[in-house]
Amino acid sequence: MDDIHVPVLFQEVLDGLQVRPGGRYIDATVGGGGHAAGILAASSPNGRLLGLDRDPAAVEIARARLASYSEPNVCRSQVTLVRGSFTRLEEIARFSDFVPADGVLLDLGLSSFQLADSARGFAFMADGPLDMRFDPTAGGPTAADLVNELSREELAMLLYRYGDERRQHWRITQAIVAARPLRTTTGLAAVVASVVPHRRIHPATRTFQALRIAVNDELAALEAVLPQAVEILARPSAVGPGGRLVVISFHSLEDRIVKRFLRRESRDCVCSLDVAVGRLPSAGRLPSACTCDHRASLRLITRRPVRPTADEIAVNPRSRSARLRVGQRLAVG
Ligand SMILES: C[S@@+](CC[C@H](N)C(=O)[O-])C[C@H]1O[C@@H](n2cnc3c(N)ncnc32)[C@H](O)[C@@H]1O
Repeated sequence: MDDIHVPVLFQEVLDGLQVRPGGRYIDATVGGGGHAAGILAASSPNGRLLGLDRDPAAVEIARARLASYSEPNVCRSQVTLVRGSFTRLEEIARFSDFVPADGVLLDLGLSSFQLADSARGFAFMADGPLDMRFDPTAGGPTAADLVNELSREELAMLLYRYGDERRQHWRITQAIVAARPLRTTTGLAAVVASVVPHRRIHPATRTFQALRIAVNDELAALEAVLPQAVEILARPSAVGPGGRLVVISFHSLEDRIVKRFLRRESRDCVCSLDVAVGRLPSAGRLPSACTCDHRASLRLITRRPVRPTADEIAVNPRSRSARLRVGQRLAVG
């Protein structure tokens, strides 16, 4: 398995962020530092980048990759790397003097080197412990804990919700419960494959996705980071345009959250339909102005997600499910 991470939608990310010399950017999922290197090159000679990752191994790989932008004197260094979750984005960005930011990038999902390291337990093709934690030092449940300790109902729900496993969730759950305790990736993959008919993707793909999402609480983390990103982006002013938020997602659960967030934040009114119905004339009140007081904080740059080209997918098959969306900070909201 290839352990060099090829950044997906590389040029599209730089275009989406509108990287310019002297800008201040945050890569909140710095991973192997591929996008970060591109951002630093395009913002040279005096651009700055804050790179964040929850995985201590990723931070070390990014540190080596971006060494040429680093200075022993932190005040002069173009790159600052922090190990931490983007759920604390605003606090880390303020502490590191990166607010207001000209751009924030979130490239969700896994790095190739995480998949390639069988000891991390992300891959069903390589034998390893059922771990799947982005930060193995942080404690918290592993995939083995969930597989072996959740009730039948909890496990079936996890597969249904996070794995989009709409037909086979009960069959897989029964097989897992019958085979407990399960300790290894290949052991789990074999159990799933024994009850799920072969399909276009490996039968265990969705089970592994579901467990990884649950172990790392990925959807809640995404919900938590998006408003913080908007909060720290530069507002348009005489000195520059509004900062850009660029998000790359890899499955429909993530993309739905990003799409809904960007839509909501690009609207001046988010009064829900039932509130509007309550204000119809038949209810004894005139339809009046909006009551939600919500003001758009973003301009939607991508009405539809940007997808990789066939050429990119041919060179980097991992990019095939990527979807990139962009919003730009407005002055209000
Ligand atoms: C697809 S990779 C990023 C690759 C990177 N853009 C590059 O060019 O090398 C996603 C990264 O996000 C990290 N990650 C996942 N959840 C995170 C979180 N809550 N906070 C910070 N980093 C996270 C993962 O550890 C992984 O390294």
